[in-house]
Amino acid sequence: MKQSKLISVRLPIIVCLITCGLLYCFSYLIERSFEKFSIRQNVTELNSVITSIERELTYYSPNDNRDEFIQNLLLILTGHHHLFVYIIDDMGKIVYRTRGPNLAIALKSQELERIIENDSTSIETIDKSSYRIAASRVIGEDGKRFTTIVAVRRDVQLEFINRLRNGLGLLIIISCVLALIGSFISIYYTQKPINRLIKKIERISLNNLNYRIPTSSVPVKYVSLVRAFNNMLNRMEDVFTRQHNFTADIAHEMRTPITNLTTQTQIVLNNARTTNEYREILYSNLEEYEKMSQMISDMLFLAQADNRQLVPNLIDIDLTNMIMMMCDYFEPLTDEKNITFQLDGHCSHIQGDKMMLGRAIGNILSNAIRYTPNNEVITITLSQMSEKRVKIIISNPGKKIDKKHLPHLFDRFYRVDESRHRNDSSGAGIGLAIVKSIIETHKGSIYVESDDKSTRFIINLPTAI
Ligand SMILES: Nc1ncnc2c1ncn2[C@@H]1O[C@H](COP(=O)(O)OP(=O)(O)OP(=O)(O)O)[C@@H](O)[C@H]1O
Ligand SMILES: [Mg+2]
Repeated sequence: MKQSKLISVRLPIIVCLITCGLLYCFSYLIERSFEKFSIRQNVTELNSVITSIERELTYYSPNDNRDEFIQNLLLILTGHHHLFVYIIDDMGKIVYRTRGPNLAIALKSQELERIIENDSTSIETIDKSSYRIAASRVIGEDGKRFTTIVAVRRDVQLEFINRLRNGLGLLIIISCVLALIGSFISIYYTQKPINRLIKKIERISLNNLNYRIPTSSVPVKYVSLVRAFNNMLNRMEDVFTRQHNFTADIAHEMRTPITNLTTQTQIVLNNARTTNEYREILYSNLEEYEKMSQMISDMLFLAQADNRQLVPNLIDIDLTNMIMMMCDYFEPLTDEKNITFQLDGHCSHIQGDKMMLGRAIGNILSNAIRYTPNNEVITITLSQMSEKRVKIIISNPGKKIDKKHLPHLFDRFYRVDESRHRNDSSGAGIGLAIVKSIIETHKGSIYVESDDKSTRFIINLPTAI
């Protein structure tokens, strides 16, 4: 919020400064080019007049053709309203001068010699008015030297430039104020929906994590942002719910055996028992303790997997051999239900942790035995997907698992039939979660398919990690 306030103040100021800078450069260029143009105009005017006067002076003889000379001078000066001429001979006698400023002042100037020599012009202030002055020296027919000073008044031009400067200055100030106001307004309207969005997001807490920002309440350009945010909330809510359920499930799973043990102990303590009776009860308690201990070690295993602390002890494994040995291990259970294992296909040796992979496959096989009807066959298919990947499919006939359960089967404490109690033949519901952690630790993947014929667990494993 603070940041957005900072932007809404900083941005208009930046826009205002940029506008101000650009307009200043623009005004400077206009002023400079006008100044250059007026200088060029004055210099051209002075040069053309002075050249014409020079020409007249070369034929000028004060005794012969003075009248004609004056006539010609007047003709030269026609139309040059702000132009003044001052001509003297080398005796200091004024040959001709126009009415107006006393250009004799300019004669004293040291600049005069310089501008004659360089053929340039200079600026002089006479009677508080500014003039651009040009001068020349010419030798007449009878050998006399004439000095001509021509001046053009600059006041009008200077005043115009001054006005132009003031006008442009005013334009800069007005533009800057408008840019400042304009950017304030546009930022306010751009920020408004974002501020509303921020307020809505700030109201979301753990208590209302199910709240989703309606996409209809934001401008079109923010719809995808809001969708992404809502999706993130979905994921967060899912994690929180699972975390919450996980804690509740642990408490529940621990409470049941502890309650059983407490009740049993209280009953036993109520009456005196024989040694055999005590032994029997202790055996039954031992079973509960073992189950609890197993569950705690399973939880620790999963916590290690979560923290990426599971480091597989990699060795070369012959999967066919390992699976055959596991089938032998489960024989007492399969014999009970007259279930048989069928092992199809083959694959290359892989690198893996024998204990972990044995535990994963064992979990799937024990589930398969539990859910396979009597006298049926559990099929294990091995195949080589590529040089670097192998596939294991463990398929058992039985009741189809509803589609809605499939994505959650690997969640902790997830059981398809929720009514099933822990004391039943089914377990706590963490077997498949452990399987998934192990497979992922081996950089493999696992998924499940189920239809009316069978349920299949499909494992993909790399041959080397
Ligand atoms: N082969 C299978 N056929 C049908 N349902 C299965 C099969 N394997 C697993 N399930 C279902 O998936 C659920 C989760 O299995 P999982 O192995 O995680 O837990 P569990 O076997 O109930 O308990 P635990 O493995 O912790 O002793 C089971 O409760 C069961 O409903
Ligand atoms: Mg299981």
